[in-house]
Amino acid sequence: MCASLFAFLRKCVVRSWRCEAREVFKNLFLEGKIYLSLSDYGLMNSLTQKEIGQKYQSFASNYDTWEGLIEWVIVGRLRRGLLREAKGKVLDVGIGTGKNLRHYSDECDLTGIDYTPAMLEVARKRAKNLGRRIVLKRGDAQKLPFKAGSFDTVVDTLCLCTYPNPVKALQEMKRVCKRDGQILLLEHGESSNDLLRRLQQRVKKKQLERLGCHVDRDIVGLVQKAGLKILSVERRFFGIFCVIRAYAKNDV
Ligand SMILES: C[S@@+](CC[C@H](N)C(=O)[O-])C[C@H]1O[C@@H](n2cnc3c(N)ncnc32)[C@H](O)[C@@H]1O
Repeated sequence: MCASLFAFLRKCVVRSWRCEAREVFKNLFLEGKIYLSLSDYGLMNSLTQKEIGQKYQSFASNYDTWEGLIEWVIVGRLRRGLLREAKGKVLDVGIGTGKNLRHYSDECDLTGIDYTPAMLEVARKRAKNLGRRIVLKRGDAQKLPFKAGSFDTVVDTLCLCTYPNPVKALQEMKRVCKRDGQILLLEHGESSNDLLRRLQQRVKKKQLERLGCHVDRDIVGLVQKAGLKILSVERRFFGIFCVIRAYAKNDV
């Protein structure tokens, strides 16, 4: 009885290990997913950048409505608090529909970049309505088309969940930021509340398929991995939202 139970369990373990291994290698050799080393496998199980772009391209006109409730409940307040600290030449990475625009001071010299043309189009209209001057560019956060040390402030809001390689994107933000410049992040990730964490596990797959959004990434861990010098971390709304202030260089 004991021996057959043991044999059964062993079979289950071997089978599940084989499935997992097959999945790892399938992803490794799929086009657009060879971003990361095997140790980053946890981050790799996502849509390709092209697929993410396509999702946002068709979602752009509804994005603000979809995000409206959470924006009203918490995110709007967090944006306002963080972005008033932006100064000088500012780069907004993954600017999306330009929801940050109203929160920057008039003195900021703004540049925004996003991978998705339709999101940029909404941002362009919003900037015009607000009377804000901004240079908008299409590009990839993981390979920013700017020289090293170009900006005083680099901002990223709610995008680290989406980039196929968030560590690379953060390293790029670090590169284009001036030595004494600041990096301001408002992101969502794994909740510190057990119940919500379990809920995140349940919706994880759906969110990944819908928008390539990883609901439970370890944001602080990613920022540390990218080598930024963290000044402060604030966790809000059951730890789901993270407000992080960082320096690009460790010797500042
Ligand atoms: C959840 S939205 C956040 C938009 C905006 N930052 C905000 O706070 O509302 C994510 C944005 O990231 C953009 N994005 C996804 N992958 C990108 C990449 N590799 N480089 C630049 N932008 C990207 C999408 O097009 C989308 O506009």
